[in-house]
Amino acid sequence: MIFSFFKKKKEHPKEVIPQLHTDIHSHLIPGIDDGARDMEESILLLKMMHTLGYKKVITTPHIMSDGYKNTPGVIREGLEALRRTAKKEQIDIEIDAAAEYYLDDGFYRQLRDRNVLTIGEYLLIETSYISKPLEFDAMIFEIQAAGFKPMLAHPERYRYIKELEKEYTAMKAKGIFFQVNINSFSGHYGKEAKRKAEFLCSAGMIDFLGSDVHRMKQAETLGEVLSNDVMHEIFRNNVILNESL
Ligand SMILES: [Fe+2]
Repeated sequence: MIFSFFKKKKEHPKEVIPQLHTDIHSHLIPGIDDGARDMEESILLLKMMHTLGYKKVITTPHIMSDGYKNTPGVIREGLEALRRTAKKEQIDIEIDAAAEYYLDDGFYRQLRDRNVLTIGEYLLIETSYISKPLEFDAMIFEIQAAGFKPMLAHPERYRYIKELEKEYTAMKAKGIFFQVNINSFSGHYGKEAKRKAEFLCSAGMIDFLGSDVHRMKQAETLGEVLSNDVMHEIFRNNVILNESL
């Protein structure tokens, strides 16, 4: 069933909206990707996540050969600095870090060397929005052969996916886990991403929910979606695994 986000009437006024406590995708380490620009912004975002009910954030800076050349070492260093400042600011939230890997040749090398940061046994990956990498299937196979579970970040945002049922089903059959961005349900990334997120929700294909927060504006939108009835729909149709991490 396709539903409309803001227009939808409240169907379950007495039901408490399901609360997420663990976020597994964000860009909160200052100055190392297109997320928080400095520690001040990181702390504001962390405080906001805490206000929204999160008890744990696993933040995931980009790693891409042509853009953000982060390494596990750089990310761990940033994580420690963020933890120290959050403690000083008395923000009661657990902070961990992994990475969002762009599927490119550099990723292949890091995987081969087992030099990757994972979220438990899951490896968070993304691709170009426009074209599917030629070696997509081979890379998925390599991830699994290395003993990890591929978690595709925001599958609703890839414009190369045209035949939703066929293509998403094929990906799931290969053992790919889907992490949908919560803000996609508000239209934050456009109509197409919203439609695809709604399809995945109705089809019960969502495994994880992510904030993908880079800036305060996204955190504010996140607050609106988290308190919206759409959360009932998501949790009714899908087995959300965030709290297992
Ligand atoms: Fe991201």
